Amino acid sequence: MSKKYNVAIVGATGAVGQMMLKILMERKFPINNLHLLASKKSKGKTITINNSDYQVSSLNEFNFQGVDIAMFSAGSDISEKYAKVATKNNAVVIDNTSFFRYEDNIPLVVPEVNSEKISLYKETGIIANPNCSTIQMLVALKPIHDICKIKRINVCTYQAVSGSGNEAIDELKNQVYAYTRNESLVNNVYPKQIAFNVIPQIDKFMDNGYTKEEMKMVWETKKILDSSIEVNPTTVRVPVFFGHSEAVHIELENKITAKQVKDILGKNNSGVVLVDDHKDGGYPCAANECEDSNEVFVGRVREDISIKNGINMWIVSNNIRKGAAYNSVQIAELLIKDYL
Ligand code: A2P
Repeated sequence: MSKKYNVAIVGATGAVGQMMLKILMERKFPINNLHLLASKKSKGKTITINNSDYQVSSLNEFNFQGVDIAMFSAGSDISEKYAKVATKNNAVVIDNTSFFRYEDNIPLVVPEVNSEKISLYKETGIIANPNCSTIQMLVALKPIHDICKIKRINVCTYQAVSGSGNEAIDELKNQVYAYTRNESLVNNVYPKQIAFNVIPQIDKFMDNGYTKEEMKMVWETKKILDSSIEVNPTTVRVPVFFGHSEAVHIELENKITAKQVKDILGKNNSGVVLVDDHKDGGYPCAANECEDSNEVFVGRVREDISIKNGINMWIVSNNIRKGAAYNSVQIAELLIKDYL
């Protein structure tokens, strides 16, 4: 019989944690014992997936002994406090927060881009899952970069509220409801109204005037794809529930045509789906293509008419799936295939 693994999901009641559970089931991950962990207030709650009920336990009472893989998605503070408790008990941690991402000896992995880095986990027991916006951008850009070096990326994102968790999904729903009834809108998660609005701030402001989400795209592109690539990001929250969209403009070392880019993206088998017809609706949209899919969708591929070696494109993906839970499960699958 093939080996089965003891898996813990930390933050199992959250938007990403629940999706981790769903995707582990969808992909028939070989699970022996499954531990669903959240805060004290969720202890004893039941989560039902595919007609099976799973009980939630409290993280602070949990003993990680015997756990093979611990998938963390309960915020940086929780990863800071508990990830090393898990690794001390010999669990391999796949961390979805930004807490460990920038440590040199911790691999930051997008399987389609740098799966070979996973082996570095042996040093610390931790593998970091990158930021959602960076993941989908790099899945699309890696096959192009392999053929023709990218020098600079100019990117504007249009990010769904689910990236801020379940509370943010509720905030958008409640504001839309209140708006249609002419009631006042309450905002606890975002600094301004998100319903029928566009907010040019994701995460906190840094000293250089960029937001942390923007700097994540800079740091993580360099760490995962190529340290010589310059990134100029603007990250924006939009009133969409699931799916981040990105207008991406790349400058390359040499001339490459839109047709060549489409050929590269269309034929390779690396998680990209090309949706690019020059007709009404012939492009991917968050609410259509990526509601329930793990792929990265690319459309609107065209040559930049303002510079010499530039290509523009539109990249869309489900931020909770490929941007978080699916990427983590892919890492777990590689771990059990090659290392555990
Ligand atoms: P809980 O539901 O018990 O608060 P989201 O990203 O959707 O906001 O979800 C955050 C996840 O992190 C939830 O599963 C939440 O559990 C979990 N979480 C938050 N604080 C803690 C904590 N102190 N200990 C364990 N899990 C926590």
